[in-house]
Amino acid sequence: MAMKLLKVADYAEMSRQAADIIIKQVKEKPNAVLGLATGSTVLGVYRELAADHRQHGTSYRLVRTVNLDEYVGLDPDHPNSYRYYMNQHLFAQLDIPLHETHVPDGLAADLDEECRRYERLIDELGGIDLQLLGIGRNGHIGFNEPGTPFSTATHVVELTELTREANARFFPSLDDVPRYAITMGIATILRSRRIVLLASGEEKADAMARLLEGVVTPDLPASALHLHPDVTIIADCEALSLIPKEKRRVDAP
Ligand code: F6R
Repeated sequence: MAMKLLKVADYAEMSRQAADIIIKQVKEKPNAVLGLATGSTVLGVYRELAADHRQHGTSYRLVRTVNLDEYVGLDPDHPNSYRYYMNQHLFAQLDIPLHETHVPDGLAADLDEECRRYERLIDELGGIDLQLLGIGRNGHIGFNEPGTPFSTATHVVELTELTREANARFFPSLDDVPRYAITMGIATILRSRRIVLLASGEEKADAMARLLEGVVTPDLPASALHLHPDVTIIADCEALSLIPKEKRRVDAP
C-alpha cells in the first residue's frame, strides 16, 4: 500500500503543505489537470494558493480543473453552490480562465447524461493529475457515502442526514440543504494519477482512525484510497487524536 501520511501540527501547517504540493505540480506541468474539493478543510489551501499567486506569480493560465461534486438544483450564482464557492475562494484569485474550470452542472435537465458528460470530460482532459480531497465525518469522499461500491463513476446521490446536517451550517436552515448531489464516483477518483487527502480537527478523528487501520471496505469510502498507488494524507494532531499515541508523533515543524 502506497499511502504516505504527513502528520502536521495544525490547520495552517496542513494548508501550507498541501498548497506546496499543488504549486509544485503546476510548476512541473503548467497545463496540469487539478481535481478540486469544496468545504472547510480546503479553504486554507486555496488561501495559500491565492497568496502565492499574488506574491510569487505562480501561473494557472494553462491549468484545467475539475471539481468533485455539486448540489442538484442550485444555480451557479447561488451562494451555496460549489461553483460559486470555487469562483469566490479560488478561481477569482488566480489567473485561470474560468472556461477551463469545471464543476458538474446541478441544473442539467438530464442528470444521468450530465454524469456521463462529466466522465467524458475528464477523459478528454487527459485524466486528473492531482486530486485534492477532504474526508467526511462518516468517511465519505466527494459525496460518496458509506455503502457506495468502489466501481461507481460520476453519479447522482441522495445525501445522508449526517452529511446534510454537517453542511447545514452554510445554509439558512437544514431544510434548505439540497437532498441530491452529483459526485465523481470512487472509480473516478481512483483514476487520478495522484491523490492528496486532508483532515483537520477532532470531528475527523474517528474516520481517520478507521482509515489508518487499513481495512478496505465500502462502509468507509475513503478506505478505497488504499487501492491507489500514490496517496498522500496530510492530517493534523486533532484529526489523528484517536490513533494510538506512539504513532501520533508530529513530523512536521
Ligand atoms: C467537498 C467534498 C466533501 C468534503 C467533506 C469534508 O467537495 O467532496 O467530501 O471534502 O465533506 O468537508 P469539510 O472540509 O467541510 O469538513
